[in-house]
Amino acid sequence: MKNYITHDEWSIVEDGFHAAYNEITESLMSLGNGRMGQRGNFEETFTGKTLQGNYVAGVYFPDKTRVGWWKNGYPNYFAKVLNACNWVGIDVKIGDEVLDLNTCLVEDFRRVLNMKEGVLERIATVALPSGRRVRIHSKRFCSMADDQAGAIRYSVTPLDFTDYFTVTPYLDGNIRNRDSNYDETFWNEIHKETSFSEGYLILETKENPYGVEQFQVSTGMAFDIRINDLKTDYQSLPVRQEKYVAGTVNIEVNEGKELVVYKYGVNLSSTNYAPEAILAETKKYLGGIYEKGFEQLLADHIKTWAEKWEKNDITIEGDIAAQQGIRFNIFHLGQTYTGEDERLNIGPKGFTGEKYGGSTYWDTEAYCIPFYLATAEQKVARNLLVYRYKHLEKAIENAEKLGFTNGAALYPMVTMNGEECHNEWEITFEEIHRNGAIAFAILDYTRYTGDESYLSEYGLEVLIGISRFWKQRVNWSAEKGKYVMLGVTGPNEYENNVNNNWYTNYIANWTLRYTLEVIGKLWTTNSSRLNEIIIATNFDLNGEMADWKHIVENMYFPYDEARRVYLQQQGFLDKEILTVNDIADHRPINQKWSWDRILRSCFIKQADVLQGLYLFEEDFTVDDIKRNFEFYEPMTVHESSLSPCVHSILAAKLGLKDKAYEMYVRTARLDLDDYNNDTEDGLHITSMAGTWMSVVKGFAGQRVVDGFLHLNPYTPEQWESYSFRIGFQGALLHVEVSKDGVHIQNLSETDLTMFLFGERVFVAGNSSVQK
Ligand code: BGC
Repeated sequence: MKNYITHDEWSIVEDGFHAAYNEITESLMSLGNGRMGQRGNFEETFTGKTLQGNYVAGVYFPDKTRVGWWKNGYPNYFAKVLNACNWVGIDVKIGDEVLDLNTCLVEDFRRVLNMKEGVLERIATVALPSGRRVRIHSKRFCSMADDQAGAIRYSVTPLDFTDYFTVTPYLDGNIRNRDSNYDETFWNEIHKETSFSEGYLILETKENPYGVEQFQVSTGMAFDIRINDLKTDYQSLPVRQEKYVAGTVNIEVNEGKELVVYKYGVNLSSTNYAPEAILAETKKYLGGIYEKGFEQLLADHIKTWAEKWEKNDITIEGDIAAQQGIRFNIFHLGQTYTGEDERLNIGPKGFTGEKYGGSTYWDTEAYCIPFYLATAEQKVARNLLVYRYKHLEKAIENAEKLGFTNGAALYPMVTMNGEECHNEWEITFEEIHRNGAIAFAILDYTRYTGDESYLSEYGLEVLIGISRFWKQRVNWSAEKGKYVMLGVTGPNEYENNVNNNWYTNYIANWTLRYTLEVIGKLWTTNSSRLNEIIIATNFDLNGEMADWKHIVENMYFPYDEARRVYLQQQGFLDKEILTVNDIADHRPINQKWSWDRILRSCFIKQADVLQGLYLFEEDFTVDDIKRNFEFYEPMTVHESSLSPCVHSILAAKLGLKDKAYEMYVRTARLDLDDYNNDTEDGLHITSMAGTWMSVVKGFAGQRVVDGFLHLNPYTPEQWESYSFRIGFQGALLHVEVSKDGVHIQNLSETDLTMFLFGERVFVAGNSSVQK
């Protein structure tokens, strides 16, 4: 755990340069706007520890899978979001000294990510190797209002000398993904050009044998150089090299004067523009951005952030670390996915790093959807569901590759375009529980929004595909007289190839039950559409429904009668049952133990049985949940970022307030304090939605039951009060919770009947209630 980030309500502050942690800080201070993003790298040369990272949403490459021993059915490629053209770079040479913080003496340094405004700022005073001193001041953002653009104001001031400065703003496409499987590069140059203070570089992803589309990204830059922010005369020398364009300016700067570079960068991709038009469009777009200028762009950007914060901010009084933590999570979710484009999804690292390839995981459905349901327009969550609907055919092909038939759909564990695409095969292919989360998200969406039209329009087809898969994936055990599911990996990835993972069996069974229910519903409400679906999916109404019912009634769920707990999998109790306190010095076990030792141990990477009890809590009594929580929580090492939030929510429900708070802090500050020693790879974006859930579903007890919003809030002892906003079926609520009670203000025109502490309350539009 690291502790070098200063606590602050609205900002992430690094005071003093922590060179050894630079890659962590770069992750923490990443910027994005849903369309493009980048790590918090320095603009000037830096030869110290750094991961230069710029990413463009939806642009990926199918890197050949890497495994030791190829087996039938392996995914051919591991798709990864590409580290793209670096547009932020500005090299600075002073006389013949390169400005590089790695070779300078850093006298003072402050790097701040202002989350309210979405701006990254850095101010430093450094002594060059010659002893001459300069001040650096940079400010940049990826515009939320103009989402294909970013802008930088970068300045250097000589403090005790006058000399010639050589400033080189550039675009560099000589980029390598750190997670490249075979150390290959993935970009070809298509076009480059430069003129006085502009540059363009078009890169295209290399050809691939898998039939995956090749993408082009056209990056443009324009710059403007000033002294003390006043116009000045200068010459710019164009530079053109392999996948690189720049303009070099040599200019004398007097002692105490500020040399200012304004740099504008734009990224247009072939996902939105035809290759023949992309250069002209880039020039036009960049022209508009340059014309607007830094201050106007910044003002528009800040305004867009202010509108976002209006809808999704959470305030916490009395605990600044918690306040910073929650805003940090909300900020990164907000800049990773805006919901504008239904082809996009939420990669576990967003625009902050490369691990996990930037692809879509079950994280979206199991964790992110509740956040977007409550804090964004309805279409955002709907788009995330439609994304999976559009991948249904691929999910059916994916299942066929594994030997399934009759329209059975197995959604990939990791995907960009609907195909399974991951390296870690043994874990990945057996984690079929993801199929259940995708089905569950349909319920989550319809019950939250009340938009049942989704079921007939798209949802049922997906449910039928998934149910067909479960039907074929279980088998009848004559010995048990039950259906069993063999050879799976549950959410807890520290167990592989287990039989009857309770969570997987449960969610499979639930999917079958739910699909039957949805069919029943459409039977009465929209039989003509149901008929269309029956024909389109070649559905054997009586036969398939009867099979599913039989499974629903006869599924095997491992259970221990003595302890009265659900068993994570069959045979779980053969393990030596220890608690995490017994292995205090061994954590994180994924870095300290062999895989063999991990698999044999009882230690649990992330919520597994508890994940099921969290999703389906209404099926269980509070006592059931408590017994299971008390059994599994002490064995859980929470080495997946997705884990503490689920434990926090359950603990809050069970009244285990200290545990709920401990788990909250862990999820909220997971990256800020680098709990799992892996923040340098990038942030845990998807689990950030879990942090939000720990407050809203955990401490505030938000649920939807029979179409009604329920809140059951308490204030953690460590806080004085907290407040949040949620949208629900047309109403926008501002909820304030303190030790004195709860105040709910309906900020919309829409009246709402809801439940507070189990009692029905009516909150008319533009009015409030107090309890
Ligand atoms: C977790 C998975 C998750 C993935 C991406 C893994 O460490 O175990 O459940 O889907 O990370 O976030």
